[in-house]
Amino acid sequence: MSRRERIRTARGRDAFNAYYTELYGEDWAAITRAFEAEPMYETLTDGLVKPYHLDVSSAAAARCVPLPSGARVLDLCAAPGGKCLVLATRIDRDGQIVANELSAGRRARLHRVLDEHLPESLRARIRISAHDGRKWGLFEKDAYDVVIADVPCSSERHVYNSEKHLAEWSANRPITLARQAGAFLAAALDACKPGGHVLYCTCALSTDENDGVIERASRRRVFMSVAPGIPAGRPTRFGELVRPDLAGGAGPLFVALLKKPLSSES
Ligand SMILES: C[S@@+](CC[C@H](N)C(=O)[O-])C[C@H]1O[C@@H](n2cnc3c(N)ncnc32)[C@H](O)[C@@H]1O
Repeated sequence: MSRRERIRTARGRDAFNAYYTELYGEDWAAITRAFEAEPMYETLTDGLVKPYHLDVSSAAAARCVPLPSGARVLDLCAAPGGKCLVLATRIDRDGQIVANELSAGRRARLHRVLDEHLPESLRARIRISAHDGRKWGLFEKDAYDVVIADVPCSSERHVYNSEKHLAEWSANRPITLARQAGAFLAAALDACKPGGHVLYCTCALSTDENDGVIERASRRRVFMSVAPGIPAGRPTRFGELVRPDLAGGAGPLFVALLKKPLSSES
């Protein structure tokens, strides 16, 4: 077996630490200490009928997208619904959101979160759908002012704090998830109107799933990256990364805000 194959197939805590030490060097120890501490939550209350707690940088990500009047918004991977709640309180009375979620169990949770937290007037502007978000662009092109691609990702914080997930981890995981994230991002860019915005997010630290996905998309699709301006976010090539060791426990969150140009701009 080649060294490359050995690295890809090695499993467990040591393989996990070796992979991220290669990416983050000495900072990995500080990152893992931050994983062991309390996350930094924000309590959303404005416009809601009851409070909802979510990571402070996730809330900031959902606030950084420009929303035109009467915005049509597509949230490709919506459950449990934190970012969708923030967006619901931001759209105006002519705005509409399609909140999509493939998993039936998580979709049930999404229904509950939206039903319990939103006043009827806002809830009525959200339609929940159950499609494979990676294929959306095949069926509806150039249709939404804003598309959110908050994709399934490595979630290292979660893996680090779960013996079961750590034992199962291998470097194949970020590789496979990055490939899948590329399909979500392509679908999001295709579904977005020219002149509209795509918000791409992960809670991953693996660079393949963050800038790597955007870089690969840029070879096939035209877009411009716009600074999202997330508090405590550190600029990367295409977006910003919130690292819990540098952000008081918030994150991890990678956020890229991409503008699809009008044909006159490309
Ligand atoms: C990172 S979570 C989204 C978090 C959500 N945006 C929020 O702010 O609460 C990713 C979601 O994508 C869903 N998902 C996974 N594969 C999918 C697919 N092919 N199509 C649509 N949703 C999918 C997962 O079930 C999961 O709920």
